[in-house]
Amino acid sequence: MGWLSRWFGGKDKAQEAQREPIDLSVFRIDYHSHMVPGVDDGAQTLEESLEMIDALVSLGYQGAVTTPHVYPGMYPNTPETLRPPFERLQAAVAKRHPNFKLALGAEYFLDESLLDAVKSDRELLTPGGRLLFELAFIEPPDSGLLQEFLFEVQMKGLTPVMAHIERYPYWHDALDRYGEWHEQGVTLQVNAASIAGAYGPEIQQAASQCIEKGWVGILGTDAHGMRHIDALHASRTHPAVHTLAQQAKNPKLL
Ligand SMILES: [Fe+2]
Repeated sequence: MGWLSRWFGGKDKAQEAQREPIDLSVFRIDYHSHMVPGVDDGAQTLEESLEMIDALVSLGYQGAVTTPHVYPGMYPNTPETLRPPFERLQAAVAKRHPNFKLALGAEYFLDESLLDAVKSDRELLTPGGRLLFELAFIEPPDSGLLQEFLFEVQMKGLTPVMAHIERYPYWHDALDRYGEWHEQGVTLQVNAASIAGAYGPEIQQAASQCIEKGWVGILGTDAHGMRHIDALHASRTHPAVHTLAQQAKNPKLL
């Protein structure tokens, strides 16, 4: 109960106008999660990972790109260190849910070393041609670094995907910049838990506003454990998730 009462304490105006729970199968794939056991602050055991995947299957998902943190000094993961535990998970999932597609991606923290990796053609985990990256929560990135990074990623023919855009409070007064990145071809991702109110009303509202503007391309679980799957479940009644589902049915809008 601790997680749920802490997470679902705050409700925004839109959430008060709740709707019928939506069928999440319209989203098909979850593109942001931490389900490779024991490599970051996500699932720690195979059993935990399988419980999360069982829940995604029961919610109608056909697959997931799991995206362990790559964060110099904290989670120094590489494709070489991630593949063996990922393949063990994939084998266990294949036995249990033969039709569920599981791919290995990563959530890269943006810093100079990531820009160097892109520029020097080092191997990066970019399934579907998408490079998921996150920023610090406390202070904005150097704008020159961010712009150069976005340019270099796109020059490689990859789509940059900015993780949980609603969780950067330093930009809450300047949400229009997300519209500009959307126009530039950056895919913007929001977390289902943010929409469910897990991180408070400001973050919930920022997520809703960006969705209503039509800037958001991906609803992600960012699942580190079952609490995030529970939040995904709770987000199904929120009008912003209904809006995203409408857009997902008509991909031209994304
Ligand atoms: Fe994440």
